[in-house]
Amino acid sequence: MSVASTKAFPVAWCRQQFPALARQVDGLEAVYLDGPAGSQVPRRVIDAIGRYLIETNANHGGRFITSRDSDAMLEMAHQAVADLLGTTSPECTVFGANMTSLALAFSRSLARTWKPGDEVIVTRLDHDANVSPWVLAARDAGATVRFVGIHIEDCTLDLEQMRQALSPRTRLVAVGCASNSVGTINPVAKICAWAHEAGAEVFLDAVHYAPHGLLDVDSWGCDYLACSAYKFFGPHVGILWGRRERLERLAAYKVRPAADTLPDKWMTGTQNHEGIAGVLAAIEYLADLGRQFGGGDERRGAIVTALNEIGAYEQQLCRELIAGLEELDEVRVWGITDPARLAERVPTIAITHRKLPPVALAEYLASRGIFAWHGNFYALELSETLGLEPTGLVRLGLLHYNTSSEVARLLAVLKELR
Ligand SMILES: Cc1ncc(COP(=O)(O)O)c(C=O)c1O
Repeated sequence: MSVASTKAFPVAWCRQQFPALARQVDGLEAVYLDGPAGSQVPRRVIDAIGRYLIETNANHGGRFITSRDSDAMLEMAHQAVADLLGTTSPECTVFGANMTSLALAFSRSLARTWKPGDEVIVTRLDHDANVSPWVLAARDAGATVRFVGIHIEDCTLDLEQMRQALSPRTRLVAVGCASNSVGTINPVAKICAWAHEAGAEVFLDAVHYAPHGLLDVDSWGCDYLACSAYKFFGPHVGILWGRRERLERLAAYKVRPAADTLPDKWMTGTQNHEGIAGVLAAIEYLADLGRQFGGGDERRGAIVTALNEIGAYEQQLCRELIAGLEELDEVRVWGITDPARLAERVPTIAITHRKLPPVALAEYLASRGIFAWHGNFYALELSETLGLEPTGLVRLGLLHYNTSSEVARLLAVLKELR
């Protein structure tokens, strides 16, 4: 991993880009810690959506100017996503409604290649969007599902169990890049190497990781990856990437008149073009953030710099938040808390309170202008494994537009509860 520069992170510049951050609640500045369920968006994303609808609103493939401009924008958006994911093949990037819909549709195609006796590995750390699609697909194919568990003390994946679960029968390993509940980062390159040794493919859920760390499909060696733009400062659009040879060979569930070529083969129906214009603008925002640290105009390089700097800045916020939480006897932090291991997590911190159930704690924070989610965040296997169903946890989700003073304010509010 490359090292962040010594230049201070331009959080003031970042915050100026996001109009929603100016919101007040009862005279207090709102503190947005709800990012894991959807980040706020920069002004340029809002403008790009509006501009698309005013200037180029048209369907795909027409000979007239708005359709041609719209298609040119789509092409640029595929290229931008390829730069975000670390691939040189924009035609292998697919847009869809959201990650869940893309995973459900894709699992149906993949499962047509499975048979009884085949095995699929899922984990108890994942969001259910990377569990249920594979469980349902395996059921349809008569394949067997193997669950890999976690180490409860730090909410990391049990990698030994993963190794043991892999065999020549394994067809797919579905694993997340980072937990949307407790923030653990999984060693996905290592898992891809193990899976490939066993002859299996890997589907990565990068939804939670994308706003925090660099996506790098080529160097990770995964076979498929999905993410969602509304988690990385864009609008509600899902993204799927797959290896060209697989996307070409697999049969898509599609209508007959739709193209058989990539990427259209996998993009069923008319897409959310205005949303895709917003995705392009969100990726440009990240690249511009990278350009604040110098370097050239080349977009992938700028994205690499941006996510490197975001990671370093977020790690500092995470350190401050965990240190403060650890001083509160009533609060339990789930997941990695060791300051020496912060590179193994993103700054998504799940807590429980000894006296207040998660919903009451979230309400209390809301009354102080702090937005945080409670529940299981659809990471249902994890919540069950931790014995936290049905109430779940409270998730304090930091993003790079959050600040040290917001962390201090949150900690002060939690102290009031003593
Ligand atoms: C890790 C993870 N995977 C998948 C999803 C589902 O994404 P989408 O809402 O785009 O279907 C989410 C949503 O919260 C998530 O956090």
